[in-house]
Order: sequence, then structure tokens, then C-alpha cells
Amino acid sequence: MRTETPQPIRLSDYRPPAYLVDDVHLTFDLQPNTTRVKARLTVRRNGDHSEPLAFNGERLKAVSVAIDGRVLGDGEYVIDAELLTIPAPPAAFTLETEVEIDPENNKALEGLYMSGGRFCTQCEAEGFRKITFWPDRPDVLSRFTVRIEADRRFRHLLANGNLVETGELPGGRHFAVWNDPFLKPCYLFALVAGELDVLEDKLVTKSGRTVDLRIYVDPGMAPRAAYAMDALKRSMTWDEEAYGREYDLDLFMIVAVRDFNFGAMENKGLNIFNSSLLLADPATATDVDYERIEAVVAHEYFHNWTGNRITCRDWFQLCLKEGLTVFREQGFCADMRGEAVQRIKAVKVLRMRQFSEDQGPLAHPVRPSSYMKIDNFYTATIYEKGSEVIGMLKTLIGADAFRKGMDLYFDRHDGEATTVEAFIQCFAEASGRDLGDFFAWYEQAGTPRITLSATYDEAARTLELVLTQATPPSNGQETKRPLPIPVTLGLLDHEGRTLAFERDGQAMDETVIVLDQPEVKVTLTGVDSLPVVSALRGFSAPVVMKTDAEPKERYVQLAADPDLFNRWEAGQDLAADLILSRAAGKPNEVGEERYAEAVGRALNDQASDNAFKALLLALPAETDLALMRSPVDPGALHDAREALRLRLALHLDAELRRLHTGLQDLGEFSPDAAGAGRRALRNAALELMAANPRNDVADIALGHFRAAVNMTDQIGGLNALMLIGGPAFEEALADFYARWKDEPLVIDKWFALQGRDPSETALGRILGLTAHPAFDQKNPNRLRALVSSFANFNPVRFHDPSGAGYRFLADQIIAVDGFNPMTAARLVDPLGGWRRLKPELGALMKAQLERIVAVEGLSKNVYELATRALN
Ligand code: ARG
Ligand code: ZN
Repeated sequence: MRTETPQPIRLSDYRPPAYLVDDVHLTFDLQPNTTRVKARLTVRRNGDHSEPLAFNGERLKAVSVAIDGRVLGDGEYVIDAELLTIPAPPAAFTLETEVEIDPENNKALEGLYMSGGRFCTQCEAEGFRKITFWPDRPDVLSRFTVRIEADRRFRHLLANGNLVETGELPGGRHFAVWNDPFLKPCYLFALVAGELDVLEDKLVTKSGRTVDLRIYVDPGMAPRAAYAMDALKRSMTWDEEAYGREYDLDLFMIVAVRDFNFGAMENKGLNIFNSSLLLADPATATDVDYERIEAVVAHEYFHNWTGNRITCRDWFQLCLKEGLTVFREQGFCADMRGEAVQRIKAVKVLRMRQFSEDQGPLAHPVRPSSYMKIDNFYTATIYEKGSEVIGMLKTLIGADAFRKGMDLYFDRHDGEATTVEAFIQCFAEASGRDLGDFFAWYEQAGTPRITLSATYDEAARTLELVLTQATPPSNGQETKRPLPIPVTLGLLDHEGRTLAFERDGQAMDETVIVLDQPEVKVTLTGVDSLPVVSALRGFSAPVVMKTDAEPKERYVQLAADPDLFNRWEAGQDLAADLILSRAAGKPNEVGEERYAEAVGRALNDQASDNAFKALLLALPAETDLALMRSPVDPGALHDAREALRLRLALHLDAELRRLHTGLQDLGEFSPDAAGAGRRALRNAALELMAANPRNDVADIALGHFRAAVNMTDQIGGLNALMLIGGPAFEEALADFYARWKDEPLVIDKWFALQGRDPSETALGRILGLTAHPAFDQKNPNRLRALVSSFANFNPVRFHDPSGAGYRFLADQIIAVDGFNPMTAARLVDPLGGWRRLKPELGALMKAQLERIVAVEGLSKNVYELATRALN
């Protein structure tokens, strides 16, 4: 056990910073093992007090500390493992420090480190304190000038802002000086130095300024940055049109690195990306990769206004920038690729990641009130639910008031570090509404359960709707207040036609009911026939809804609901019920046939697009089904879901083959939504065919794999072969490796695919893959490819009755925690679900958490999550 228990940090303890830094001049003398960092800070006491100065600093070898040019002696300052303390500094002064750091041996990938022989940085949330002594908190905003000196082999020397000077130095060295004219918190600082190739372009902004755009990548990779560049230009223009936001510097740079703890980072003017979210060409990237690249490039760019120009006062406000930026990103993606399909995909992610978080011990509000390590709070709740909350705000006040509120926010808080309260206040003013109740969405954890029942009175032509809500208790929040839940709703007749109605005397096709009490009753009038209620259209709130609808009403929706989200959702509901009944030992064979028939009809609907049909064809994930009943028996769920897949595959055999043949790509690959949709449907058809035990299916899959001319189809083929198993799969797997062994991003896919293999013999292979020469725990992409894909996307093997899957995950967490606590902590989540599992499994899982917590010298990151999972 640890000797001292880490203490939580609380929102209620927030105090403004005791000292501010207005200007800083940093000089980096870069050497892989002994980098010197000199910092000259203009420091000012904030307010009238006599508190000591306490600046953060970790793993820094201090060389000197000076005030106003005078070097301080022993006794004039104290440096411990976390702080530089100066007992009684003047009210305003220049602080100069010099420290030494070791980027080469920094495997935590936080602060200044090396990736592929290049220097790079990651400072959010608290990495800057590993570079120099600093008040490392987002409410200290400073003007940065950065001088970088390095050996000439580090050809490009990059930092935030504008390049102001470059030159030669003796001894084969050179330098560059950068100045960022915008005030920023230190977490947005970035530096990159190394040999890189660059893809260049330009964009003229709406006010007519020309911005230079540069994407820096590994030598030889520039062509693979073309799609990211295109996405960047579209994002910049979109933000001008959708939010009136223009870019503010003359230069925008992105650098791609292979070793990165997360997806990407929005450093001012110098975004740093995980190369997996930047590099793409048809041969090595799938459509899913293209789609994510577009989304993440946009996300990081949008941060320039929501995050950088206006930042967070403290880390409790993280959703202020993340939830809002995800919301903006989703708006962009909807405009690029179609609203309904993007909405369905976003909700799938929300349910898989956020709803499961909410049901487990790590449940927390969108704005948490305490944490130990902020790095643990870059969660689906902050990001995805944070975005949903903004979507609800827009639904509740309307698009015009929403845009006005955003304008007011940009106007009022530009250049500030602010709070969620200040943000919401802008919308209250813009809409003239009291949004006091709305704030509960930020403060209350958990997924609300709502019910809806409908009673039709034929004689009176009225429909009475009764809605209720309740949010289950979560860790630290035993009782919950009612929330204002917007429920978008329309009616269909039993032929699937839109049924108009009146609400408060006004005729309409669709309305938003605000469920803001434990129970709300609404009577709709002028309803001409017995309706099918289409509620929670577009998933208008992040809740779980139960209705009194019967299967036949779901079938009407699956065939014809004009709200495509609800059309898809009806199919998912029907499938989930069938799978859950079968898993409970009550298979409904008639229902399964009926479902297969309805899916067949939906596939033949000429009016709907391929991407949508691909989504319709996929059954609910086992992880989603696991959220619907407890105790969970993952094996039974898997078998029941496979049984329904088999029935669909047999029933739709001819149709699936027709799709598979008919949808082949002809001509040039295009990563656009139409091309991606066609490939998605074709690969979804093949995946379903793989459930069919007929012999020729393996041949079709192997043919698909062999004939593939792009990575989407190659992975599609390999995936189907994996589900079929046998010699064809073994052969294809070996071929794939031999062909791609020099392409790290593709080999990541090779590991990830095997991690997801649900076959009975897969576990041994998966555990053995850590001994493969290409496996590398120190590279987060490679580690996650195998370990996260296994623990998160292969429930039937992860929950092996022997407990071997849990033990494997715990082994990896413990080993990785020794050098990279952030990445280790991000692996803990799948162990949080032990309480909901059937008891034999739950006990095995819990034992692994106990084993982790008992490790000597465990990081705060893993300690926080593992203890919360246990308690
Ligand atoms: N701000 C980055 C983004 O969402 C993510 C940074 C992740 N940092 C962390 N410590 N988890 O765009
Ligand atoms: Zn972000």
C-alpha cells in the first residue's frame, strides 16, 4: 500500500492565483538527455496579501533561481518534489530560473519528450510543470516568447505564434525565436524540433487575410497529410459561416507524432496530433480513419475559439471547452456527412462509453466537484455528455437564441479564463429565460430514466401523454433533482404517415415537451387516428426511455419514421428485446423471423442511403446489451446475439449477396460520405454473411480480402474471415502482416483486429501477442490496439470464466503504470463493472482491482480510478 493517501482537490476550494505571470521568455537548449530550460518571468502579486510564492515544478533538476538579477542562496527558496517556494518575494519582480530535464527518458509522454527522434511536448493538463517552474493552472494567462537552440539535425524548430528570428550558432547548431501575441495558459504551450516533411497550403479568411497552413509529418509522409489539410480548410471556413469565428494568426501548424497519449492537442497555432488521427491514404487508412481525422482536425481547430481565446478558469470547468468543442465538431460533421447518420454514430458512442461510465463507480457530473488527477477526467461524460447538454440547451431556447448566446459569450469573455456559470449566463440573457434549473445537468451524475405512456381517446380525438423521470443514485449523490429534459415528439398513423396534431390550439407535426418535473402530462388534440408515438426524436436528451409501445408500433417506425434516428432506434429496440429474451432462456422465434423480414424491407428502401442501411444492419453491441440487465452474463448475451445474427444471415442470404456484389467500388477511391457509405454497407453485408455456416461464405470473404484495393475493404475482408475462423483466416492474417510490417498504423489495426476476435480459441492468441516482436508497451497506439480493443470490444473473451482476461488487463496496467501513468489509467475503466456482473465473474474482476491497488509506488492516476472502482 502507499504510505500517504493522495488528497482530492475540490471546486469549492478555488482561490484566484496568488501571483500572476504577465510575460515570459523561455530559452531551450535542446539535448536529448540534458536539455536546459531558462525562464525569465515578469511576476506580479495578485491582490494584497503576504502569501509565499509557490510555483509548480516536477522532475526538474534546478540549476539556479534569481530575483531581479540576484541569484538566490540556500534558505531564500525551497524546492521539493512538487513546488518551488519563495517565502517573501517583492510585489513585482523578474524571476529567472534555469533547470535541466531529460526528454529522452521521458516515457510518460507528458512535458517535453522525444518521439521518433524528435522533440515534442504535451502540456495539458499539468505537463508544463515538468518543463519549468510555473503557476501551472489555466487561469494564469501570459505572453510567451520562446527561443529554441538545437543541433542542425533538428531541422525544424517550432513553437506557438509567429516566427520572429532564425539563425546559425557555432558548433553546428541553430536557433529560432517565436512570439505568441495572444495571452495563453501554459497548458497551450508547445514546442517541436526535428527533421520533418511539410505539406503547405493557404487559406484566405472572410476578412481577406491569408493564413499559411503547414502540416509537419515524418519524412516521406507528406502526401498522407492531404486529407487532413483539406479537412482543416473546410473547418476554418465552416467556423466562419456557422459561428462567425475567424482564425487570428497568420500561421497555423499541425505536427503529427507517433508517440502520443491521446488523440490530439489544440496548442495555440501549433496543434500536435497522434499520427493515427492525421495520416491517411486509401491504401493504409479505412473510411473510419478518414472520418475521425476530419472530426479531430475540426475539433482541435475549433478549440482556437472555444478553449484558447476563451479558456477555463480551473480544470473543473473542463467541459466548458471540451463539451462545447465536441458539440461544434458534431455540427461540422453533420454538415459534411449527413445529419442523421452522424447523429446515430454519436449516440452509439455516447451509449457505449458514457452510459456505461454513468452506471459504474466512476460516474461523475459533467462538471465534477472534486478529483485527484485531472487527467482522469478527460472522460466521455465531460466530452460526449458535455456536448449533449449543449445540444439540449439549443433545443430548449431555439437556434436563434443559441447563436445569440454564443456571440455574446465570444464577445464578453474573449481573452479570459472563465466558468460554466458565465457561459450559461450568456444564454439566459440572449433568450430572456431563467436557466437556473438547467444547471443541474452540469452538477448531477447519472443517466435519467424516463417513461412515456400514451392514451388515445378516439371520440375526443385526443392523445394524453404522461412522462416521468428519475435519475438513479450514484457515488456521492444519493438523491437527484428533476432535470429539464427536452423530448422532441411527433406522431405517425399505423400506415407510417405523419399525423398532424394540435398542442395548445396550434397545429403542428412535431413538438418539444419539456419534462421538468418528476411527472408531466400533456394532452394533444386534433389527433385523427390511433397514433404511433415517435418520441425523443434525434435523441433529444441523453436519457434511457421506456414507453408502453408494442412491437407492432416499432415496426411502423422502422419502416417509415421520418425521423431517421428513431427509425434506426426502433430496429435496435426490437433487436435488443429479442436478444435479451433469448439470453434469458425465452427465445421468440416468430419475433425473430418478423424482425429479419422487416430489416430486409428496410434494405430495399430506395429512398434511404447506404450509410444508414449499414447502421440498420448492425445489431446492438454486446456492451450496450449489458447495460440493459443486471447481473450480466456476457457469454449468454454473446450467444443470443449470435443466434439472431445467424437468423438474419439465413433469412437475408440472397439480399446480402446481392448487396455484396452490387456495391463494389468502381473507379477511383473517394473518401467522401457517398463512397464511404457504399463500402460500409458492403462490408456490413459481408460481416453478417459471415454468420452463415455455408462453405462458400469463407471463399467470398477471402476473395473480398484478396481483391481489396483499399484498407477499408481489406479490413472488412479480414474481419469477416476472423468471424468465420479456420485456415483462411490464418492465411490472411499472416499475409496481412507480411505486407504491412513496415507501416506502424496498419500493424496497429492488425493487433486491434485480433484483440476483438470472439472465437473460442482467441484468448490464448491474444495473451501471447504481448510477446510478438512488434508489440510495444511504450507506444500508446500499439498498447491500446491490443489491450483496449480486447478489454472494451471483446466482451465474451475478456470475461473468460477463468479470469485470465482480467488478469491480463491488470498485468498491463501495472506494467505500464511504471512509466506512463496517464495511459495506464485509461486502461482501468473495463474493470469498473464488476458489481453488475454475475457474481462468479464479479469476484474475479474485483480481485484484480485489489491486486492493482496493493502495488507499491502506484501512480495517483491509477490509484484514484482503481480505488473508486472498488468503493
Ligand atoms: N484538449 C485535448 C482535446 O480534447 C485533449 C487533451 C488530453 N489531455 C489529457 N491530459 N487527457 O482536444
Ligand atoms: Zn478537445
